[in-house]
Amino acid sequence: MQLQQLLFSQGFGSRHECAGLIVQGRLRIAGATPTDPYEEVDPEGLEFELDGQPWPYREKALVMLHKPPHYECSMKPKHHPSVLSLLPGPLRVRGVQPVGRLDEDTTGLLLLTDDGALIHRWTHPKKKLPKVYEARLKHPMDEAARQRLLAGVVLDDDPAPVAATAAELPEPTLLRLTLTSGRYHQVKRMVAAVGNRVEALHRPQFGRLALPPDLTPGAWRWVDATAV
Ligand code: URA
Repeated sequence: MQLQQLLFSQGFGSRHECAGLIVQGRLRIAGATPTDPYEEVDPEGLEFELDGQPWPYREKALVMLHKPPHYECSMKPKHHPSVLSLLPGPLRVRGVQPVGRLDEDTTGLLLLTDDGALIHRWTHPKKKLPKVYEARLKHPMDEAARQRLLAGVVLDDDPAPVAATAAELPEPTLLRLTLTSGRYHQVKRMVAAVGNRVEALHRPQFGRLALPPDLTPGAWRWVDATAV
């Protein structure tokens, strides 16, 4: 792959702009500063630096973000900034999008990718990818309500009941719920259906991937798709 194509594919601007970056000596690969935009490199596993910032080559981008509150997952946010504003420009240029959505006030693990097939696969109901949520509740939850969440509750937009795969109560007002479906406001509506209310919601896990304890709110990290 030509160096200018390498930078272009990673979201650093038009081919012309990327050629300019290389000619200006802003690209470094393995300690060298190549200045020919047409020089060929093997991109597989390549790490490069642009303006001193390290960057791995990824054919498709997949990152996790520790979503803070007051950010919207929508591409056209209405009341708060988009989660995309927390990512560096090249990832936005590549067109990464959230894999599913978290509400504006929900925190936790959000995956973003420019791989449309991956988004389709991981959000498809048939895939049944488990997502773990921790809900702080307004009222203590009793065993009967926990059992109802496991048996299935009816939400207002569909007569077919939705059930949690797991529901634990580490504390009477802390519900740890595992869902394999992803309906609109699903946790909040399931909790409301058993007469309680979610006061704060956090997602510590998506598939097999757990939010790393050292990934602070607003920070992001590259992810290998096989880890999900
Ligand atoms: N369920 C909700 O109610 N909100 C979220 O953000 C995610 C799941």
